[in-house]
Amino acid sequence: MGAHREKYWFFRNVAEVLGEGIIVLDEQGNLTFMNPEAERLLGWTEPELLGKNLHRAIHHTRADGTPCPLEECPVNKKIAAGDTYRVDEEVFSRKDGTLLPVSFVSTPLLEAGWVTGSVSVFRDISAEKKAKAEILESRERAENATKLKDRFLSLAAHDLRSPLVSLIGFLRWIERDAGNSMDARHREMLKRAETNTEHLVDMIDGLLDIGRLTTGEIQPVNSRFSVRSAAALVLEKFRHSAGEKRVALANDVPEDFDIFADYGLFLSVLYNLVSNAVKFTRPGDSVTVYSPAELANTIAVRDTGVGVPQGLLPRLFTREHKTSRPGTAGEKGNGLGLPFTHEIVKSHGGSLWAESDKGGSTFYVALPRE
Ligand SMILES: Nc1ncnc2c1ncn2[C@@H]1O[C@H](COP(=O)(O)OP(=O)(O)OP(=O)(O)O)[C@@H](O)[C@H]1O
Ligand SMILES: [Mg+2]
Repeated sequence: MGAHREKYWFFRNVAEVLGEGIIVLDEQGNLTFMNPEAERLLGWTEPELLGKNLHRAIHHTRADGTPCPLEECPVNKKIAAGDTYRVDEEVFSRKDGTLLPVSFVSTPLLEAGWVTGSVSVFRDISAEKKAKAEILESRERAENATKLKDRFLSLAAHDLRSPLVSLIGFLRWIERDAGNSMDARHREMLKRAETNTEHLVDMIDGLLDIGRLTTGEIQPVNSRFSVRSAAALVLEKFRHSAGEKRVALANDVPEDFDIFADYGLFLSVLYNLVSNAVKFTRPGDSVTVYSPAELANTIAVRDTGVGVPQGLLPRLFTREHKTSRPGTAGEKGNGLGLPFTHEIVKSHGGSLWAESDKGGSTFYVALPRE
């Protein structure tokens, strides 16, 4: 057997077992070889198409159903020019007339600089296309459902808020008006009803704030400001409660450290993080706002408190999971502080993450430079 024939048989044997369709054409575009996978995908057998123009047999129609004449065939043009043609998504027609979505590569066969034919390797992409379409569809469905849920939540929260606020008003009125004529037990109950209702209103406000951020109703308006001053302002608000718990507060942010962010929203971020830190620290512990030396444009709140249980750590930033635990002095929460904080940081294009162990927790906020 001559070297040429030997090569031919080697090629045939390899092509027989390959999982991709292989088609070889001569310089006129007529079929000289087709492997079993190509036969299977196209529904034609090699003898049926041998010597026939392949464009007319399988490549006569475009993906949108319009005819693709040979003169306009992009593969033909490329091959004639001695170039390779690659496409991620195109269609071939099967023997039964149905269309087969494929991705393929066609390479010219060159002999002494002349195009003597071409080899095309193609793959059925219908399963991939279907999977992609399904993912898109289910993502769209999930997004719509979330939007609907958010809208419903905002509406419900909004409707609940007003009667509760007026309830607080009534409770305060009774307290003022009849406080002294009530016995201590009734006064205590009244006070508790008031605190609980205020707590509910806080929770509703939290939900409304998150809703406004996710729907884009609140848009950050950025300016450049000193982080040290912002931290000082927030820490001041906790001076009393931290003092009562004998927790030390420290502002270690350098004087010249400024950031570009929405001032009011950034204060909320710090407020939530410091409020948590104070909530989960014990007498003798400390809470520090600082800027980690190794991280650019990052502000962190570190505490030496009880730490976050490892199982809770990855769930702190979503509303869907209940993560709220009472503080070391029995302080109550809604578990909305961190989801809100996360939304704010996200709306700035930044990131929020936490590290925690038994020695305490650190929450990091990284913001883009501009
Ligand atoms: N610094 C921290 N140390 C220990 N646990 C923390 C800390 N920060 C957050 N956590 C845990 O994460 C939970 C959720 O915090 P988040 O601020 O979202 O809600 P909350 O403080 O419980 O209530 P809210 O902020 O709505 O009043 C907390 O209840 C607590 O279990
Ligand atoms: Mg909180």
